Amino acid sequence: MDKLDHQLAPSILAADFGHLTEDVRKVEGICRYLHLDIMDGHYVPNISFGMPVVETLRPYTDMIFDCHLMVAEPDRYIKAFADIGCDMITFHYECSDDPFALIDEIRSLGKKAGIAVHPDTPAEKIYQFLEKGAVDLILVMSVVPGFGGQKYMHSATERLSDFRSRLDKNGSDALLSVDGGINTVTIKEAAAAGATLIVAGSAVFGKEDITGAASDLIAAMKDC
Ligand code: DX5
Ligand code: ZN
Repeated sequence: MDKLDHQLAPSILAADFGHLTEDVRKVEGICRYLHLDIMDGHYVPNISFGMPVVETLRPYTDMIFDCHLMVAEPDRYIKAFADIGCDMITFHYECSDDPFALIDEIRSLGKKAGIAVHPDTPAEKIYQFLEKGAVDLILVMSVVPGFGGQKYMHSATERLSDFRSRLDKNGSDALLSVDGGINTVTIKEAAAAGATLIVAGSAVFGKEDITGAASDLIAAMKDC
């Protein structure tokens, strides 16, 4: 396997929403992606934030907005999140009757399309998206979606390795993302298994020294 380009995507779910732009400033010099967790209190039991927060933040940074929709009926919200400046829009496989139609819609809006997979969903269901060009990002959940600060599920590592080898075999250049329970130890495991876009909330914005915490995570996955 060629050496992969591993990127860190800090999740603002763990940020101080009273000082959101200041928190984002602390990572924008060292990270290109910013992960936005949208939770609807329906697909997941928690409610996070929605369009007004994303729209307000957009003019303050050039970071790539990696929008993770944990919402039922994602087709109802794709256009809204595209219009307010999300660059990548990921929806849950479990929430869509016609995922390929949604991928097409996201791409037709000029955005990158991602598909997220719940830990309980069999990996085989996702194989169709590992074909070359099928999707731009695969998001492997390493916790049950809905809350930050949970423990990394090691079963995600095996899933990442499986998806990595299938993506490579198919010649797909889709990003392989992982989300949940990432810290300076688990990031090595996920990166070594082939994840390229690694999301971390508590391990970045939950720390006193946000820039230092993001740097430590980037350093930890450097040689994986
Ligand atoms: C969980 C969210 C995650 C969350 C990760 O459902 O999708 O993106 O912010 O938080 P940590 O890194 O604290 O597990
Ligand atoms: Zn997320």
